[in-house]
Amino acid sequence: MRQARPLKPISLSGILQTAQETQKVATALSEFDNALSGGIDIGSLVLLGGEPGIGKSTLTLQICDAFIKQNKSVLYVSGEEGLNQVAGRAYRLSSALGAMQFIQEYSVEKITATAKEQKPDLLVIDSIQVIHSEDLTGSAGSISQVRLCTEIIMEYCKRNSATAIIIGHVTKEGSLAGPRVLEHLVDIVIQMEGSRTQDLRLVRILKNRFGPTNEVGVLEMAANGLQSISNPSEKMLAERPQNAIGSSLTCVMEGKRPLIVEIQALCTKTVFGYPKRSATGYDVNRLNMLIAVLQKYLRLDLINQDIYINIVGGFRVQDPAADLAVCAAIISSLKQKALPAELVYLGEVGLSGEIRKSYMLERRIKEISNVGLKTGDLLTRVSGLI
Ligand code: TYD
Ligand code: MG
Repeated sequence: MRQARPLKPISLSGILQTAQETQKVATALSEFDNALSGGIDIGSLVLLGGEPGIGKSTLTLQICDAFIKQNKSVLYVSGEEGLNQVAGRAYRLSSALGAMQFIQEYSVEKITATAKEQKPDLLVIDSIQVIHSEDLTGSAGSISQVRLCTEIIMEYCKRNSATAIIIGHVTKEGSLAGPRVLEHLVDIVIQMEGSRTQDLRLVRILKNRFGPTNEVGVLEMAANGLQSISNPSEKMLAERPQNAIGSSLTCVMEGKRPLIVEIQALCTKTVFGYPKRSATGYDVNRLNMLIAVLQKYLRLDLINQDIYINIVGGFRVQDPAADLAVCAAIISSLKQKALPAELVYLGEVGLSGEIRKSYMLERRIKEISNVGLKTGDLLTRVSGLI
């Protein structure tokens, strides 16, 4: 057996001391920094996921800008867009980005070799789906390629105490050839959500080895990149049509912050076979459960109805407090009557048809009254419709 070289262990206090010295790079986006308890941790490997066109490259360039302005070097590996394209956009976002180094390369071995030589404070891979390892035969973007490339970058980061951001595309269903299988390899997972046709973007911290998860920052895509916004609920409401049938409002907690979101439902008579139940931005199993409760306890005839649910703005809602609003939107569509415009529906619906209080209720109610709305409960306010 080959004799291995012994390692030098470090004492616990030594480790804790280095951990405390972990520094962060704050960006110009306070919403983003707050979600990450102060900014990007130096020495961390960050995975930034989201649908194509949502703003991942833009956000990353703005992070690079913060590094450059703090006299830290950046190596941006662009596999997806040509160098002229990225450089032109970067320069329009901030002239400070003129100091950033670019390469266009697809081989992870060449990328890490360049990084070892250049020793950038921040390495950006845009995106993981287009790079490949020469050690594997599979094409770029396949699960095995994406995983191996991430492992190689992770090893580079840990050995060199380097910071890296890996961009990965996620499809609407959250699946992909990629990012989801990488979550356990990286320190921080950030997901960008929103709709390409609207300006609001959520950055959601799905995993954070250095701080709390599930924190959310709200940003807006503007002509000069992403901006922090402080009144997302008002923005959401500004585009809501008056007296829309099948539309309801709820207030979900995104991390510690309340956010008003609009839910739409559409009920149409099933023409053939089983009724179709479909949800965008919402769990279809939860939808099925709510439909069953409405059928059983409110005796609504939904058996022959196709039911579609959509969360406006391209966001995902997982907060059970939205149950009541989903029910209200379904009832509104079924009965072809608009719900009262100023009402926000809050409450978790149980299998016995009971309505439970939502957690952090005070914060939600405060947000609701801040934007000039009121809370409603299904039984008293919607009963006129049933
Ligand atoms: P991008 O960052 O390229 O998305 P991704 O990397 O996730 O695919 O951004 C996509 C959109 O953002 C693009 O349609 C143009 C828009 N955009 C702005 O509205 N303002 C800007 O300042 C920039 C840079 C992009
Ligand atoms: Mg991009």
